Amino acid sequence: MTEINKQQVLDAFHFRAACRNYDPERKIPQQDMDYILELARLSPSSVGSEPWKFIVLQNPKLREKIAPVSWGIKHPIQEASHLVIILAKKNARYDSEFLRNALVQRGLTPEQMDATIARYKSFQQDDIKILDSERALFDWCSKQTYIALGNMMTGAALIGIDSCPIEGFNYDEVNRILAEEGIFDANEYGVSCMVTFGYRNKDIKKKARKPVEQVIEWVK
Ligand SMILES: Cc1cc2nc3c(=O)[nH]c(=O)nc-3n(C[C@H](O)[C@H](O)[C@H](O)COP(=O)(O)O)c2cc1C
Repeated sequence: MTEINKQQVLDAFHFRAACRNYDPERKIPQQDMDYILELARLSPSSVGSEPWKFIVLQNPKLREKIAPVSWGIKHPIQEASHLVIILAKKNARYDSEFLRNALVQRGLTPEQMDATIARYKSFQQDDIKILDSERALFDWCSKQTYIALGNMMTGAALIGIDSCPIEGFNYDEVNRILAEEGIFDANEYGVSCMVTFGYRNKDIKKKARKPVEQVIEWVK
């Protein structure tokens, strides 16, 4: 493994900033984009559910279609080298085929499977309380996708690639447009968030952050 030190990581965190102006001439090499997507795939998720899909939307016509309802993308939509739409799984209930398959993949015995599903039931029902609405269940999966989002942006910053997370869009419209195009099955998945990648073509104003005392508390 290549040596990496704390200062390099901190430098990457200072370098990363919401990028709203990309150089339209500079495209991210395929191997760098593969590396960013691999960081998403390797990200942790609650109960190892991996409740996500990453759609790399490079088709200019489709980008154009979502642009009018994506007010949070501040630059012309074609300027971002890459645009990733992150989908979250719908209805990932403890007894769903989806979660069952995740357990099969881990090689659980039938007894272990029953015990794990019972544990997931009480977790989803009594502990984290997400079985009351489809929305709550979807948001639970959506939360997992934000871990992948963060990892992608950090990993990109470490190799000098800019990014911007995007929640500024009409969810119903983007879901409708992409599902109508056959990009995903709207019964199975919904859009969680987006993220653009590329190379800045303007300096970005220095980060404003709350002081340490306001956000970190040690309880000893
Ligand atoms: C989940 C999430 C959604 C965001 N959505 C948008 C967006 O739609 N458009 C945008 O320009 N910035 C968006 N941002 C960027 C934030 O405004 C930005 O991260 C914040 O102001 C802090 O600035 P920094 O990222 O440069 O440190 C989003 C950030 C996060 C974390």
